[in-house]
Amino acid sequence: MGKGEGSTKADNKKELEEANAVMQAWKYALGFTELAVLKCAIELGVADEIETQGGAATLSQLSAALNCSYTSLYRIMRFLVHNRVFKAKAAATQEATTYLQTALSRRLLKGGEKSMASLILFESTPIMLAPWHGLSAWVSSNKAAPPPFEAAHGQDIWAYTAQNPEHSRLLDEAMACDARLAAAAVIGSCPEVFEGIEVMVDVGGGNGTFVGMMVKVLPQIKGINFDLPHVVSIGPHWNGVEHAGGNMFESIPKADATFLLKVLHDWSDSECIQILKKCKEAIAEDNNDDSISDGKQIKKKRKKVVIVEAVIDDDYDDEEQDEQGSQLQSWTGVRLGLDMVMMAHTNGGKERTRTEWAHVLNEAGFSSFSIKPTSAVQSIIEAFP
Ligand SMILES: C[S@@+](CC[C@H](N)C(=O)[O-])C[C@H]1O[C@@H](n2cnc3c(N)ncnc32)[C@H](O)[C@@H]1O
Repeated sequence: MGKGEGSTKADNKKELEEANAVMQAWKYALGFTELAVLKCAIELGVADEIETQGGAATLSQLSAALNCSYTSLYRIMRFLVHNRVFKAKAAATQEATTYLQTALSRRLLKGGEKSMASLILFESTPIMLAPWHGLSAWVSSNKAAPPPFEAAHGQDIWAYTAQNPEHSRLLDEAMACDARLAAAAVIGSCPEVFEGIEVMVDVGGGNGTFVGMMVKVLPQIKGINFDLPHVVSIGPHWNGVEHAGGNMFESIPKADATFLLKVLHDWSDSECIQILKKCKEAIAEDNNDDSISDGKQIKKKRKKVVIVEAVIDDDYDDEEQDEQGSQLQSWTGVRLGLDMVMMAHTNGGKERTRTEWAHVLNEAGFSSFSIKPTSAVQSIIEAFP
């Protein structure tokens, strides 16, 4: 290979890189459109209408049923099909184009076990978007300025939701979306985690979705859904679950196991340690005696705290991640994204690495812990006093 040939190849590579960079920068500049158009499609009820029509609907059927302009709807659907949210079957005329449901578009249905619509609607509210505009000001103040949510709304997210019932309801519904997915993954992947538990308290359990679903599958467990009073006061009834209002920094109801799903990531290390100490107190009182059932002695399991959170890889390496399978790559992206959400929306919350979990659990006085992955974005951390 001559010198000139080598430099031409290098020049071509550089040009390609430059062209790609411009396209990527455009993609980032317009990144908000993906969230905004998904929100629009959910509000219009596009996936719901396609479902009503048996999983496929033409543009003219959709625009008539949703009572909207078909030319605008056509452009919205073209964007969503390009982004692989829906599928399209072309026809002789635009009006006859048929749109088909996909696994992803079913996540936009307003109801059902698999719906993630409330999560998308919640994250795209002006209230949750406003703090992002203050992220750089907070980071460059070296944390001296109020955190982004407080800077935008004058108080932290928990005080804000206590005073704004509609936003509190949106938050509960958004969290319940993921709690349904987490319940299926956690109970499905690791049912042994709940063996031997008679009473479990879900700390910061929101509207009780996780513990309600768990008790349905494992009815031998008595569930307590513990959250702030204004949250549990509007929680739905779940068979086998009692709602209890209170403050986890003060006292947590006694149980064989305390459970926390997406709660500790909302708090700084020192607050996390305080909550974990309260969880330890809740399982401390001895009722470790074995019980007798049908003349057989039932061995009780060790009391424990079960934490379900997205765990960031300790040895996170960008290049290595790029070479891994798409499943791992996408979860890593979601976990790192969630960490950014914690930075924008909480006062000191974060997604933690294994080393960071070891630190907070050790400081809270736990003697051992293990981390098990699940099929969901979160892992299960079992911590023993
Ligand atoms: C991110 S949400 C998670 C909800 C639920 N675990 C889930 O994953 O669906 C955090 C929850 O912690 C609750 N919370 C915040 N501060 C609390 C406190 N001091 N005591 C009890 N619960 C609290 C909130 O009301 C909210 O329901």
